[in-house]
Amino acid sequence: MLELIKFGIALTLIYTSKHYSPLLAAVGLSIVGYVVCDFLIPRVGPHFIKIGRFGKDLSKPGRPIIPETVGAVPATVYIFIMFFNIPFLFYKYLVVMTSGGGHRDVSIEETPGEIFFPHAKLSEYLSAVLCLQSTALLGIADDLFDLRWRHKFFLPAVAAIPLLTVYYVDFGVTYVLIPDFAKNWLNITKSAVNLGPLYYGYMSSVAIFCPNSINILAGVNGLEVGQSIVLSLIFLINDTLYLLFGAEASQDSHKLSAILIIPFLGVSLALWKWNRWPAKVFVGDTYCYFAGMIFSVVGILGHFSKTALLFFIPQIFNFAYSCPQLFGLVPCPRHRLPRFNEMDGLMYPSRAEFSTKPPKSVMKPVFRVLEFFKLIHIEYDTKTGEMVNCTNMTLINLVLVWFGPMREDILCNTILALQFAIGLTAIAARHALGTLIFGHDNLNIL
Ligand code: UD1
Ligand code: MG
Repeated sequence: MLELIKFGIALTLIYTSKHYSPLLAAVGLSIVGYVVCDFLIPRVGPHFIKIGRFGKDLSKPGRPIIPETVGAVPATVYIFIMFFNIPFLFYKYLVVMTSGGGHRDVSIEETPGEIFFPHAKLSEYLSAVLCLQSTALLGIADDLFDLRWRHKFFLPAVAAIPLLTVYYVDFGVTYVLIPDFAKNWLNITKSAVNLGPLYYGYMSSVAIFCPNSINILAGVNGLEVGQSIVLSLIFLINDTLYLLFGAEASQDSHKLSAILIIPFLGVSLALWKWNRWPAKVFVGDTYCYFAGMIFSVVGILGHFSKTALLFFIPQIFNFAYSCPQLFGLVPCPRHRLPRFNEMDGLMYPSRAEFSTKPPKSVMKPVFRVLEFFKLIHIEYDTKTGEMVNCTNMTLINLVLVWFGPMREDILCNTILALQFAIGLTAIAARHALGTLIFGHDNLNIL
């Protein structure tokens, strides 16, 4: 019954889009996405287990098995939603403003006979969907065949080629602004520096970074989806500010951002319902890559990839902090998720043991600095004074080092609250510091 009501609301909203509101249509389709995913996920779960797609929930008594790769469901539903959205998105141009009689390209409102259908906008949108589709395929391949790091690392950049091509043709801006203090310091008058092809290298790196950074901030029930939901909210708050106070040029790109993120939020909320503690399903790398790619697509097509990276501060911190383990300077176990203690049901920081493989000597001063700032916990041999182990270098373990052992759901919620607070601060800082550093900001709030 409740589902029917939700469907009713969704259809009403989509109907409202007749009056041309692509954002309302996105909200309607988002509700449809939520209902469809919520219906499918519990039903497909047992089939995933039957074909061997399951994982052990390492932080529960007895380590029960639950379906893995279920993120493929929201990813697929999202892509279908994006297809269904096309007629709603361009309704004004397909129906409202045409002269009829099959002349879909000819305006009755603007200069008669002038072709007005926004082909550039359609190509932007299709390039986004194509990129996301390839990313979902990459994620599914990784979940099925456990691809090697060196094989899968550059693939998101390949998936981003359609996006970069559209960026090149439609926008092509490759310069970055120089802050006022740097201009004074270097004694130059130029207010921008053109990075040329390097800028495309930078955007490809964003496409590689975002998916992988979500995948390595994982290991606690609900965290992969939870952080994607928080990121969606932060992006939507930023989009709303631009839609209300931004210049017309920036409004278009933030409208596109909201149109891509709102349905993603719908399907992610349904996945969150089943993946949050105690998890009934695992999302798999498919969802992590897919979610990360949504944000890089939005950042690149919306021309705000640098601001988008600002919203990834927790993921950037987790990546930078993980580097010694990722690059083999400190032993890196297959799983760095926190250790579950069956006796009290709490999570404790997991540790990298040095008995068989000690850390590289270059790490000694780094460890000292990290220990001084309480960014790691190291255990020493009481007799020799040698390091025996250290806490695994992830944000999740760090939260446990700071705040002590806690239950898995509380740990997840603490990290999400921290992420949300950092995101809000990043929005405020982006617009306050934008004015201070560049002498102006692209929001006209005051
Ligand atoms: C990344 C992390 C790894 C972490 C793992 C957890 C790096 C370099 N890799 O690896 O340290 O342990 O994610 O997803 O940082 N699992 C749980 N509870 C959860 C989520 C996952 O027990 O809430 C376990 C399950 O056994 C599940 C497995 O993790 O089957 C999934 O791991 P996978 O996503 O394949 O790990 P990676 O992404 O390679
Ligand atoms: Mg993973």
